[in-house]
Amino acid sequence: MTRLPAAMILGMAATVALAMPPGDPKAGEAIYSRCLACHALAYDRTGPRHCGLFGRRAGGVSGFAYSDAMRHSNIVWNEVTLNRFLANPLKTVPGTSMGYAGVKDDKERADLIAYLKWANASELCRK
Ligand code: HEC
Repeated sequence: MTRLPAAMILGMAATVALAMPPGDPKAGEAIYSRCLACHALAYDRTGPRHCGLFGRRAGGVSGFAYSDAMRHSNIVWNEVTLNRFLANPLKTVPGTSMGYAGVKDDKERADLIAYLKWANASELCRK
């Protein structure tokens, strides 16, 4: 009985893994330099901090002045939602104040998301 939920979780993880190519966090670090124009991992700048991103509701950093579009987008950030948003921010969240065209290349996006995951589990986000 206790095994069924675990199997279901594994099944869901496999579906996510199939939907996207595995990312390379090292390559993603270089791509993240594009985001550093506005973002930092551990503190808010023009854009909100990226530490704590996974599992966070869009618009969820208290004290950051999000657009209404972002706050009301009903997104929870994970690999799938980040992949969709970062491909085309303005189309995914119409009215967002993130003035950035996005990362069009699938592999670059996968690498970038892998880097964000790695960074979130690293010293960079431990306080
Ligand atoms: C020109 C400045 C700018 C650049 C460049 C930029 N962002 Fe943003 N980003 C913002 C702003 C401003 C917001 C808040 C948007 C809103 O409230 O609509 C934001 C929001 C976000 C959010 C939602 C966060 C949350 O707490 O809900 C994510 C995720 C994000 N950016 C990721 C990225 C990544 C990854 C990159 C690099 C590929 C990037 N951004 C590049 C300005 C930028």
